[in-house]
Amino acid sequence: MLVFTVNFRGVLKATTWKPCAGFRKGSLHTKPKSHFTLPSGDTIPSVALGESAPDIASLTSHFILIYAPGVWQAGGRELGEAVKIALAAGYRHFDGAWAYRNEHDVGNAIVESGVPREDIFITSKLWNSFHAPEDIEASLDESLSRLRTSYLDLYLIHWPIAFKKEPYLNGRIEIDEALTADPYPTWKKLEELVDKGKIRNIGVSKYENLTSNPLKYRPAVNQVELSFGNPQPELLAWAKLHDVLLEAYSPLGSSRQVKETLELPIKIAKELGITPAQVIISWHVQRGVVVLPKSVHEGRIRENFEIVALPQEDFDLIERAAVSKAPQRVINPSKEWGLDYDIFA
Ligand SMILES: NC(=O)c1ccc[n+]([C@@H]2O[C@H](COP(=O)([O-])OP(=O)(O)OC[C@H]3O[C@@H](n4cnc5c(N)ncnc54)[C@H](OP(=O)(O)O)[C@@H]3O)[C@@H](O)[C@H]2O)c1
Repeated sequence: MLVFTVNFRGVLKATTWKPCAGFRKGSLHTKPKSHFTLPSGDTIPSVALGESAPDIASLTSHFILIYAPGVWQAGGRELGEAVKIALAAGYRHFDGAWAYRNEHDVGNAIVESGVPREDIFITSKLWNSFHAPEDIEASLDESLSRLRTSYLDLYLIHWPIAFKKEPYLNGRIEIDEALTADPYPTWKKLEELVDKGKIRNIGVSKYENLTSNPLKYRPAVNQVELSFGNPQPELLAWAKLHDVLLEAYSPLGSSRQVKETLELPIKIAKELGITPAQVIISWHVQRGVVVLPKSVHEGRIRENFEIVALPQEDFDLIERAAVSKAPQRVINPSKEWGLDYDIFA
């Protein structure tokens, strides 16, 4: 039996992965799916609207989040409109977080849209400052209240790093070493909140080494940076082998790499009569991952939802090109958070 733990901060080592025989033959090359199934039996739509401002994850200082909570609300009305456009276009999955400081815009837009709550898959994330078991429920309740819902479909631990709550002096972050090294108490509290009915599924973000403590509910999802620039084939293969669904954040390369990413599949896009963004998003879904493209522009929101089954040779071409170069990660706040190690090393 497979058992999992969330007691890790390191990156999955390639040496821990051995592809099963069938893997190379074709399991990467499925048709794009509209949904994936989680261990709970819930289905999760394969394309979501991402809700953070570009690069927010690398900029979120502890001080700004706790003491200047209005800062990230800029553009909130724009986001509310984007959510309504997305719902009209057919999206039923929204990827947000407490830290994005815009959950009320999302909640209001969903309620105003008239689309029934039960038709929509809502994800939020537990911020680093609230990993202590006694702080989790209050933070979750804040997200629920802002999102105007009584439950989340998915709640992720946003980062494999726990911050101490005090002191917040001068924005200096202090790491809670114990909870960072062993997040099991955090996970146990999340399990309790599943049993309480406030969360339907729990998962992690950027936790890449799932090993050996027994858990009541294993992580349903690991949300990680996956893009043409940072395709992480070993992690993807490992996740498939262990039945952990990956979600691709910054799937278009985020604002920093989106231009060069979308220049790459221009020829394929022309041949197929679709756009380069559609090629890249389709490639992600065909790899078997949930995709979270962020846009606040109507045309792009609609465009990003219309994915196709790429012909095998085009899929292979993109896959080969992506994995055959040095990976480039977009988001890594290790230095900004004053860590003496690289979260992703
Ligand atoms: N777990 C985490 O720590 C984490 C970290 C980062 C992100 N995320 C999630 O992942 C989502 C997406 O990440 P991201 O915003 O970093 O990266 P992204 O979706 O790869 O890129 C967003 C950028 O691409 C542009 N864009 C979107 N669609 C386009 C299209 N069809 N053509 C041309 N440009 C297009 C957007 O501009 P416009 O908006 O102007 O259209 C924006 O500049 C976030 O919203 C969040 O939900 C999670």
